Amino acid sequence: MRLYNLSFEIIVDKIQITNFDGVYEPAEDSWLMAKHLPDFQGSVLEIGSGSGIISLHLAQRGNLVTAVDINPKAVEATKFNSKENDLEIEVLEADLFSSVKNRKFATIVCNPPYLPPADEYDDPELSLAVEGGPTGTEFTLKLLKEANDYLEDNGSIYMILSSRMKEFETDWNKEIVKQEKYFFERLNLVRFSR
Ligand SMILES: C[S@@+](CC[C@H](N)C(=O)[O-])C[C@H]1O[C@@H](n2cnc3c(N)ncnc32)[C@H](O)[C@@H]1O
Repeated sequence: MRLYNLSFEIIVDKIQITNFDGVYEPAEDSWLMAKHLPDFQGSVLEIGSGSGIISLHLAQRGNLVTAVDINPKAVEATKFNSKENDLEIEVLEADLFSSVKNRKFATIVCNPPYLPPADEYDDPELSLAVEGGPTGTEFTLKLLKEANDYLEDNGSIYMILSSRMKEFETDWNKEIVKQEKYFFERLNLVRFSR
């Protein structure tokens, strides 16, 4: 995870991303997920869309995408970037699943806040984007606990997990789809299924 405070544009796979102040800048974890998610088709819910980078890639591949973020600036950024790229995405401001009650999705994806708290994230929007709770795992565990109600039978959840998180137990089946190593952390794109 890297943090910047500038507006900028990046273009990958013909998708142009404009990022905004107070919105998580796409970083190694974002690319890992955008590039290595398998080629599934159907309805997808992204929790924590940030700039929209992952949702846009999924929409470009023909998925029906709903993107949720708790940060209003991220919601605006995802809406802006989907319009700029001519990709239709439903974008909602919400805490986790609170705005999709009674709906089910074939796939749920999330590059979660996964770091333990640190003083360096003094901006509230950026700490919301990167801090996953006291051990870095609390956000992920909450999402995995609640996700069952929003996933179709045989659906999958894809998440980024980092070596900087504490190890945790889960009753989901867990499979590493892709791993990347950096000098400061190991990132895994993980599939959870029943
Ligand atoms: C690590 S960033 C990932 C952003 C983007 N998906 C990416 O990969 O570049 C995590 C995102 O989760 C959002 N978030 C944090 N807590 C949330 C919550 N309770 N409900 C929804 N979104 C949340 C943050 O605002 C942030 O945009």
